[in-house]
Amino acid sequence: MNRWDHARQLLRIGRRAETGGDVPEEPFRATAERAQPGPRSVRCRSICIASGKGGTGKSSITAALADLLRLQGSALLLDADLGCANAHIFHDVRPEHSFADVVAGDRGVHEIVTPCAPGLDLLPGGSGVGRLAGLREYELEMIGRGLARIEPDYDFLLVDSAAGLSRQTVAFAAACDRTVLVTTPDVTAMTDAYAFLKVFVRQCAALGQRRELPLLVVNRATSENEAKEVSGRLSEVTRKFLDQRLEVLGWMPEDRAVFRCTQRRQSVVSGEPGSKIAQALERVSSDLLAQLQGFEGPGAGGRLEEMSTEPPRTRRA
Ligand SMILES: Nc1ncnc2c1ncn2[C@@H]1O[C@H](COP(=O)(O)OP(=O)(O)O)[C@@H](O)[C@H]1O
Ligand SMILES: [Mg+2]
Repeated sequence: MNRWDHARQLLRIGRRAETGGDVPEEPFRATAERAQPGPRSVRCRSICIASGKGGTGKSSITAALADLLRLQGSALLLDADLGCANAHIFHDVRPEHSFADVVAGDRGVHEIVTPCAPGLDLLPGGSGVGRLAGLREYELEMIGRGLARIEPDYDFLLVDSAAGLSRQTVAFAAACDRTVLVTTPDVTAMTDAYAFLKVFVRQCAALGQRRELPLLVVNRATSENEAKEVSGRLSEVTRKFLDQRLEVLGWMPEDRAVFRCTQRRQSVVSGEPGSKIAQALERVSSDLLAQLQGFEGPGAGGRLEEMSTEPPRTRRA
C-alpha cells in the first residue's frame, strides 16, 4: 500500500478521478445556498500555511498542496493574505470578487467563490486594499460565519496566510485544525518562525482554544543536513522556552522550478511534477493527511466566528 492509499484509508476518503471525478455538476453557489447554517461538526479538514516572515514560500507551498489535495477530495483555498493576495496567480484565474466585497457588505462569502480547477475553489483575498490587513473583529466574525456556511461542502480547507503576527493572521491559524509553519534556513526567517509559535501559543490560550502546535516545514534548504540543523535549532528553542515539542513535517529543497512555474501561473506540482521539490511536496502532503486523522469539530469558520470578543451590540448581522 503506498503512502497516499494509506492516508486515504486512515481518513476514509474515496479516490477521485484525476479529471476531477465527482465535482458537482451544478454551480457551486447553489450548493452553498442549500447548506444549513451553523453545523457543529464538519468533515472538512482545515490547514493553515503560515510563517512569521514574508517570502518563505507559503503561497507556493499552499498552491502545490491545493493541487495535490484536490485529487483526494474537494478543496477550498482561502487567500488570507488579505489586501496583498496572490494565491489566484498559481491557478491562473482572475477573480472578479474578493473579501474586499465581503467586508464592504456587498457580497456574502459564498458569492466570492472562484472555481480554479476540477475539485478546487478559491476565496480570493483582494489586492491593493490596505484596510483588509487590519479587520475589525465583527468583520472577521462575518468572514467566519460565511466560511462556516460553505465549509461543509469541501473535504479540505487550505488557508494561505499573510506574514506577520497580527491578531487576524494568528486567528486564521488558530481557527484551523492544523497549521504548517514554514521557515527557510535564513536566520531571520527562523527567528520569526519562533516568534509566530510564541504568539500562536499565547493567542490560543487567551482565546480558550486548545490547538496543536504548528508542524514545521523547512523550505529552500540546500541539503537534508541543512534542513535538519534548522529544525533541530527551532525544536530546541521551542522545548526550552515554550516547553513544547515541535513536530517536523518535512523539508523542501531550493529549486528554480518554483520560480519557473510561478511565471507560468502554475503550482510546481502541476508544472513540473517530476522535480525534486514536487516529490518533496507529495511526501509532505500525504504525511499531512495522516496528521489530520481524527480531527473533527466546528470547522475553521465556526471557530473564527466564536473567537470574536466584541460585545454583541457592535456586531453586524
Ligand atoms: N523551494 C524554493 N526554491 C526556490 N525558490 C522558492 C522556493 N520556495 C519559494 N521560492 C520563491 O520564493 C519567493 C517567495 O515565495 P512565496 O510563495 O510568494 O512566499 P510567501 O507566500 O511566503 O510570501 C518566490 O519568488 C518563490 O518563487
Ligand atoms: Mg504569500
